[in-house]
Amino acid sequence: MNNQKYLLQCVVCGHKTPDFGTWFEQNQVCPTCGSKHSEVWYQTDYTKLPELMKGEVLSFWQYLPFLPLNNAGNIVTCTEGGIPVQQWGFLEEFAKKQYGLDIRVHVYRNDLNGGTGTFKDVAASLAASIFKEYGVKQYCVASTGNTATSYATYLSMAGVNCSVFLPDNALKASEAFVSAFGQQVFRVKGDYAKTKVIAAGYSNTHHILMSAGNIDPIRVEAKKTMVFEWLRQMGKMPDVYIQAVSGGTGPIAIDKGVREIQSVYPGLKNPRFILIQPDKCDPMVQAWDKAEKDDFPDDYEKEYPIIENPETAIPTLATGHPATYPIIAKLVKATEGSFISISEEKIADFARLIAYERKVMLGPASAVCISGFFGALKKGLIKDGETVLLNVGEGVRRAPEFVDEMLYASKDVDNVDQCTPHTMESYRSQLWDAVTD
Ligand SMILES: Cc1ncc(COP(=O)(O)O)c(C=O)c1O
Ligand SMILES: [Zn+2]
Repeated sequence: MNNQKYLLQCVVCGHKTPDFGTWFEQNQVCPTCGSKHSEVWYQTDYTKLPELMKGEVLSFWQYLPFLPLNNAGNIVTCTEGGIPVQQWGFLEEFAKKQYGLDIRVHVYRNDLNGGTGTFKDVAASLAASIFKEYGVKQYCVASTGNTATSYATYLSMAGVNCSVFLPDNALKASEAFVSAFGQQVFRVKGDYAKTKVIAAGYSNTHHILMSAGNIDPIRVEAKKTMVFEWLRQMGKMPDVYIQAVSGGTGPIAIDKGVREIQSVYPGLKNPRFILIQPDKCDPMVQAWDKAEKDDFPDDYEKEYPIIENPETAIPTLATGHPATYPIIAKLVKATEGSFISISEEKIADFARLIAYERKVMLGPASAVCISGFFGALKKGLIKDGETVLLNVGEGVRRAPEFVDEMLYASKDVDNVDQCTPHTMESYRSQLWDAVTD
């Protein structure tokens, strides 16, 4: 294929790979230095971008001139990425009342993505489309759940066989989702780290392409469009970005997006990254706290703990071996951000509050993000006048058993006298007390 549109460039040695077909033939590594980390760069005229941002955006495919696909006929989509940034005033009021801060709080609603309602849909849509363009028929992925369901969905639509490797703590719902589309699941007896090793062995043995993790240029290119959408919907970049972090594709992609469009948006910079982990699997937070205490010695980013078989009940965030920490820590440091740990035990309280105040049912990883916002306020990490963006990555349908946690207003009765009308308002203080004690 004659690809004039883009190329991949190795982040380590600068080697240029002409297209994804060649990249796949190279087994997704740089042939010169062996690095897996290449970035996509385009020949496109960037002054087109502000034009594309005008008008309605149904999906991230609006930005096709800045995505690595040549033929629009290959697009596989369920309308993902055209999701709203909402202003959540009740969180602004809370910050004002409790901390005297005048801030704007925006929420990027990944739970409204068309495919599976997660963070992962834009990447899976782009992957399926690129595979269609190059006739890739087999793929495999190791996942804690959300990538698995999303890739299974989109690759099925593209007619690509996808073998999914799930750790033993992955949700039954994720497994069912993958099977339902006729894709095969290998449930690995062990944690996510072991799952990745087995998947890599399978990929090698059968010469099947495997998702290249958090620096996978396909994932990064899809997710960088978040930056375009924020500029379109908010008119600027947020000052602070909050996300529950597992491997960190989010911040990696934002940074790539910002660097890519600086020529048309001079002065554009990354937000302060505030990344949240649940206390039952928080290796990045532990590494960061130690580095901070030691005043960031040389090579601080290379030192991090590995948590074997993490106990967290949130499979999406169960990355106990944070191999991308060196990249993420540097981004967080450069933006003067932070990593914070929140109590996993309390995340349902945050999910209930959001359900009550916004009538939105969040999944557990998203509840971690919300909890992180409260944690960041408490730690004084948000300043007066700032705009904060919370990236919520999943709705409750990704974790059906989490729905049970939303129950707090039912009563058991056996006669009519026990049933009296209520006012919703009566629950409000109970819910707020639970998140502010
Ligand atoms: C809902 C949700 N939140 C957070 C994350 C973490 O994403 P990242 O790869 O940026 O760490 C994921 C993915 O693992 C996710 O699906
Ligand atoms: Zn290289």
